[in-house]
Amino acid sequence: MILGNASANIVKVYDFPIAIMRQYAERFFTLFFLNIHLYLQSWHKCLSAANVRSWNYFHETFCFSPISLIMQIHEFERGLQGRVAIITGAAVGNGRAFCERLAEEGAIIVIADIADASETVKAAEAIGARVLSLKVDATNPQDVQQMAQTVLKEFGRIDILVHNVGKYEEEPFELLSFDQWRQMLDLNLNSLFLTTKAVLPAMKEKGFGRIIALSSDTVWLGTPYLTHYVTAKMGVIGFVRSLASEVGKYGITANAITVGLTAIQRPEQGGRVSSSILEHILPTQSVQRGDEPHDIANVVTFLALPASGIINGQTLNVDGGVARH
Ligand SMILES: NC(=O)c1ccc[n+]([C@@H]2O[C@H](COP(=O)([O-])OP(=O)(O)OC[C@H]3O[C@@H](n4cnc5c(N)ncnc54)[C@H](O)[C@@H]3O)[C@@H](O)[C@H]2O)c1
Repeated sequence: MILGNASANIVKVYDFPIAIMRQYAERFFTLFFLNIHLYLQSWHKCLSAANVRSWNYFHETFCFSPISLIMQIHEFERGLQGRVAIITGAAVGNGRAFCERLAEEGAIIVIADIADASETVKAAEAIGARVLSLKVDATNPQDVQQMAQTVLKEFGRIDILVHNVGKYEEEPFELLSFDQWRQMLDLNLNSLFLTTKAVLPAMKEKGFGRIIALSSDTVWLGTPYLTHYVTAKMGVIGFVRSLASEVGKYGITANAITVGLTAIQRPEQGGRVSSSILEHILPTQSVQRGDEPHDIANVVTFLALPASGIINGQTLNVDGGVARH
């Protein structure tokens, strides 16, 4: 159920002036030092090979660098500058890290969560992103459709969908009720159907789209007491495989990430919830440290980049080397 009118759920949409000034300052210093480097390089060339071409190069660099510096600052683009990314289930956990990382690349962030996402809003805004936070139940068709309409009204495009909502709950199969089974499939898999249906027309219209769905390495491990969860997460992989074949021709990719146990900080549990579980899981990993949300966020961002448009219908396993895929 959508919690009130969608437009009333917008937390903030505005250019954050201080953050934008900071962005410009960062660009200035990056490009200033790059220009100094080019200047010294050309000077060195002139000294080592005093020929006409290198003198011209030096002259051009020297004379035009202040103007070109200003132009470069203005045109400097980060990887996802101006792209609109919807991240479901981003109030806490991995989803928050995805928002932060995508914001670092310049994306406009849309948080779609059933819970209060104000901490994620603050975190993404501090990086300089424009942020829209919507209360959305990802299992509710009306909510999800309204979410897409609101985003299109605000930004005119949807470039990236990170399907992150999901839930993990152990139950031996013999005790598992049909209700538990259905709820698990609803949240982990049916929500992917709904969100993809809602965003695909907008992606197709622009000839660009990135659908990135979160699955779990339990699908490779066949972890017990998770028949409902593993079935849903395996469904996510099947979904992106088949969809990729249909939408690749429109510049849209659909990929999945199988995540291992992640060391998420949960304040209500006094820090790293998985510390005791990590002790159990680390011996099974080839990398001897816990997976952190930012490890997965890097992979999400990699798949979201325009440069990754050739990767389609794939599943990347990110679990510190527990499972092999
Ligand atoms: N954390 C791990 O160790 C781990 C391991 C493997 C896979 N994963 C997968 O990664 C994804 C994120 O995991 P996490 O641990 O960060 O999750 P989390 O439990 O920390 O966060 C889930 C978010 O989804 C939101 N949410 C729940 N139901 C919703 C609904 N109906 N509509 C909209 N939002 C809803 C919650 O409010 C919350 O903000 C999930 O798909 C999970 O299955 C996580």
